[in-house]
Amino acid sequence: MSSTVNNPYSCRKKEPTFTAHPDFYKYNSTKSCYFRRGAVALLSGAYCNVENTFFRLFKQNDNKQKKILIIGIGNSQEPFSYLASIKGILKDKPLKANLDLHVVDLQSEPSLQKLKQSAFSDLFDYEVYPRFAKSSFVKESYSDWLAPKVQNEKNSHYLLIDFIQNPKVKACHARVNDEIFDFVRETYGNPQKARWDSRVQDVIKEYPDRNFDVVSANNVLPYIVSENEYMETLSNIVRTLKPNAYFITDPYEFEKPVKDSGILNPLTQVYKGIYQKKV
Ligand SMILES: C[S@@+](CC[C@H](N)C(=O)[O-])C[C@H]1O[C@@H](n2cnc3c(N)ncnc32)[C@H](O)[C@@H]1O
Repeated sequence: MSSTVNNPYSCRKKEPTFTAHPDFYKYNSTKSCYFRRGAVALLSGAYCNVENTFFRLFKQNDNKQKKILIIGIGNSQEPFSYLASIKGILKDKPLKANLDLHVVDLQSEPSLQKLKQSAFSDLFDYEVYPRFAKSSFVKESYSDWLAPKVQNEKNSHYLLIDFIQNPKVKACHARVNDEIFDFVRETYGNPQKARWDSRVQDVIKEYPDRNFDVVSANNVLPYIVSENEYMETLSNIVRTLKPNAYFITDPYEFEKPVKDSGILNPLTQVYKGIYQKKV
C-alpha cells in the first residue's frame, strides 16, 4: 500500500472521544459501542459511532431504501461489519428491501474463497484487545464473553461469535450469517453496484448530486497521493450526499487547509470522523 506522506491532509493526531446518542443506550443494552469499522481502524485503536449513526438512519421508519457507498472495502471486514450492524437494527426486515449498497475499490472483485475467509476468519485476541472483542455485536446471549467456546447460532441474528480458549491464545472468532454473506456477494457481482479496479477519484464524479444516505471512506482517502485529487474527491463526496446524509471517515481531525478550503462547509461533525450534511 502506498505511503500517505505526500498527502499533507492525512495527518492522524487524535484518538476519538466516545459520545453516544442517548437513544442508543436504550437500544444497545451492552452500553458499549466499540464498532469494528475495518481492519486498520480496528488495529489502530480507533473506535467510533458508526453503529449509532446507522441506528439514527434506519430507525427513521420512513420505509425508504437507504443507499450506502463504501469506498475502499479492504478485506471486506468493513462491509460485513456495517451489514451486521444494520441487520441488527432492521431485525426481521430483509436487507435487500432496505439497503442499496455500492462499493468502489482499486482492487479486483474478491474471489468467493477470499470472501469466505473474510466472513469466517475474523480472529482477534481478546486479552490484548478486549475492547474490540467486546463489540456491540455481542448481545445478551454472548454477554458471558470470556467463556470458552460459546456457540449459539440460533440466538445470533447476524453474527456468530465463537470464543476459543487455549493456553496460548484467547481469541474471538466472528462470522456473518448467510443473509449478509449473500447480500455482499450479490452486490460485489453487480457491475451497477460494485466498481472494481477503479479509483474513487474517477468513479465519484459519475454519481449524481444528492445520491447517497451514507458515504464511507475509512482509511482510504489518505492513500490518494495528489493533493488536488484528494480535495476534488472530498468535494465530490460531499456533493453526492443527500441532505441529512452521513459521511463516515477516519476519526481524526481534518487538517486546517481542508477546513479552510470550505469543502466541508455543508457538513456538521456529529461524532469524531462522522459528518452530516446540512439540509
Ligand atoms: C487500508 S485499506 C482500508 C480498508 C477498509 N476501509 C478498512 O478500514 O479496513 C484501503 C483500501 O482502499 C483501497 N483504495 C486505496 N486507494 C484507493 C483509491 N484511490 N480508490 C479506490 N480504492 C482505493 C485499497 O485497495 C484498499 O482496499
